[in-house]
Amino acid sequence: TGYVTLDSGFVNTASCSSAITYIDGDQGILRYRGYPIDQLAGKSTFLEVSYLLIYGELPTQAQLDDFTTRIQRHTLLHEDLKRFFDGFPRNAHPMPVVSSAVNALSAYYQDSLDPSDPEQVELATIRLLAKLPTIAAYAYKKSVGQPFLYPDNSLSLVENFLRMTFGFPAEPYEVDPEVAKALDMLLILHADHEQNCSTSTVRLVGSSNANLFTSISGGINALWGPLHGGANQAVLEMLDEIKAQGGDTKDFMKRVKNKEAGVKLMGFGHRVYKNYDPRAAIVKKTADQVLAKLGANDELLDIAKGLEEVALSDDYFIERKLYPNVDFYTGLIYRAMGFPTRMFTVLFALGRLPGWIAHWREMHEDPATKIGRPRQIYTGYTERNFVDLSAR
Ligand code: CMC
Repeated sequence: TGYVTLDSGFVNTASCSSAITYIDGDQGILRYRGYPIDQLAGKSTFLEVSYLLIYGELPTQAQLDDFTTRIQRHTLLHEDLKRFFDGFPRNAHPMPVVSSAVNALSAYYQDSLDPSDPEQVELATIRLLAKLPTIAAYAYKKSVGQPFLYPDNSLSLVENFLRMTFGFPAEPYEVDPEVAKALDMLLILHADHEQNCSTSTVRLVGSSNANLFTSISGGINALWGPLHGGANQAVLEMLDEIKAQGGDTKDFMKRVKNKEAGVKLMGFGHRVYKNYDPRAAIVKKTADQVLAKLGANDELLDIAKGLEEVALSDDYFIERKLYPNVDFYTGLIYRAMGFPTRMFTVLFALGRLPGWIAHWREMHEDPATKIGRPRQIYTGYTERNFVDLSAR
């Protein structure tokens, strides 16, 4: 049935055309809609970047005001949906709780499920951008047994998220503006990365004309894996383990290079970047600043820098072009901000949301789109005759 080529892991196969994000992996370049990532990280805000990714242009002041107001109108969760969180064990990892709640949006907001209706798609877009921070904060609150807070729409998206996460209903919560700014910037750095595993998942699920909420829920699940967004949690666990064993980075590197089962230098390597990940360079600088500002003299930062130094001068890593990726230093910042390790990948999901939405919408607007349906190389039996149970 025709000629089929095998490309395991899609190393060299484009699944679509896209005008959203450009990466040059050899040179370490990342641009959203043509704008270099360092300019966006330094000058823009997460909401502006979300607008840019989804609608293709930076917003004017009037467009940004309108976008912000529309999002603020949808930050509340349906009261019944809040009880949904009670169905999970308190010690659950927040990622499945968040992806389940996002999937449940399809059940609660049935007037925004039709992928062929631009108004419904727009409403689902705004609802997701507005509600994911609330869902993420509630997953955290549930895990620590604290009461949920209603969103406070006088605050910015990030300030509101920080308050709903760390605040208490009866107490005023002072948002540290530097923490809010650093978190906003980290969300920008995570906002899109072309056809990565979770974004490809969102496109594949969406290609069957599944609704936006359910497609994004699939992306959150793909993101959870430690080879993808789950790497930020895995890095911190690795650093903790090295510290517990006396902080010997050289010994750990030996285990990595000997390819001991399950031992990788987490936060290193990338399918596309064969040079320093431009996001990691920005995160490393921010880690220094935020940790200094919060007075978190984190021994783990020294271990991380030690690992990087060893890796960058070691033939194993040089030959394979392995450099720190975005996940290598982010966890240290999140931890200094007060987030438990298990929340790190949720923060990645908050950041990646506008990218997922932009790709889902771009796919539906592209007349060349077909349902995603890869082929295979069959390696099983040709044909054999059924054997009766008594004869097996
Ligand atoms: N530590 C040790 N060796 C590594 C690592 C690492 N982190 N990454 C790759 N290698 C080796 C790998 O063993 C292979 O060696 P060999 O040629 O001897 O077989 C070679 O480098 C090429 O690696 P690969 O696994 O074929 O590369 P890939 O493109 O399939 O995988 C990756 C990319 C990101 C999954 C991988 O580098 C990895 O597992 N890194 C650690 C997990 C991680 O940090 N993930 C976050 C990625 S960035 C942001 C995100 O997506 O969330």
